[in-house]
Amino acid sequence: MATTTTKLFLLPLLLCAAALSPATAADADGFTTFKVYFHDIVGGTSPTAIRIAQAPSSNSSSTFFGAVVAIDDPLTTGPTRAAGTEVGRAQGTYTFADQKTFGLLMVMNFVFTAGDHNGSSLSILGRNEVLDDIREMSIVGGSGKFRMARGYVQAHTIDSGATSGETVVQYTVNVKA
Ligand SMILES: *[C@@H]1O[C@H](CO)[C@@H](O)[C@H](O)[C@H]1NC(C)=O
Ligand SMILES: *[C@@H]1O[C@H](CO)[C@@H](O)[C@H](O)[C@H]1NC(C)=O
Repeated sequence: MATTTTKLFLLPLLLCAAALSPATAADADGFTTFKVYFHDIVGGTSPTAIRIAQAPSSNSSSTFFGAVVAIDDPLTTGPTRAAGTEVGRAQGTYTFADQKTFGLLMVMNFVFTAGDHNGSSLSILGRNEVLDDIREMSIVGGSGKFRMARGYVQAHTIDSGATSGETVVQYTVNVKA
């Protein structure tokens, strides 16, 4: 009974808080959801993704099995890298970890340097089967406002980069911290 009364009392306060900060408000389950756009630039004069290791057989593998790529990829608020839209970087590695399809092991931090999450980071680990429409990976931790974070991201490719050398992926972040 007391609990019910407390909940009823808190409800208007929670609704007000949500109305005040719609961009980062948590939902009823405590999840905050937002999107960032990940730019994996392998071509051109300033690549942000570079192959750092491989097996002698990686290039003859149809899935580049065994190759490891280090990334420092821009994260922006929209699908293009327009001025002023960068909110952080995706830093870490991806490994071509599947012999049958393009299945990457992603090990990376989203390091926020502007916007609502400036100064905080998220640690992401998971399987990225890049030809799938939606790939889900785990958020295994974080720092700053994301300390002790848990959650998941869903990646969806916007541009494969086949012609430009720049792959653009929309990441929908669902995080609880
Ligand atoms: C594999 O291909 C990459 C990209 O073309 C090249 O940089 C690398 O030297 C090749 N590695 C081997 C072992 O042939
Ligand atoms: C991000 O936070 C740092 C450290 O507090 C601050 O120096 C910087 O100006 C902030 N950047 C933006 C774009 O808000």
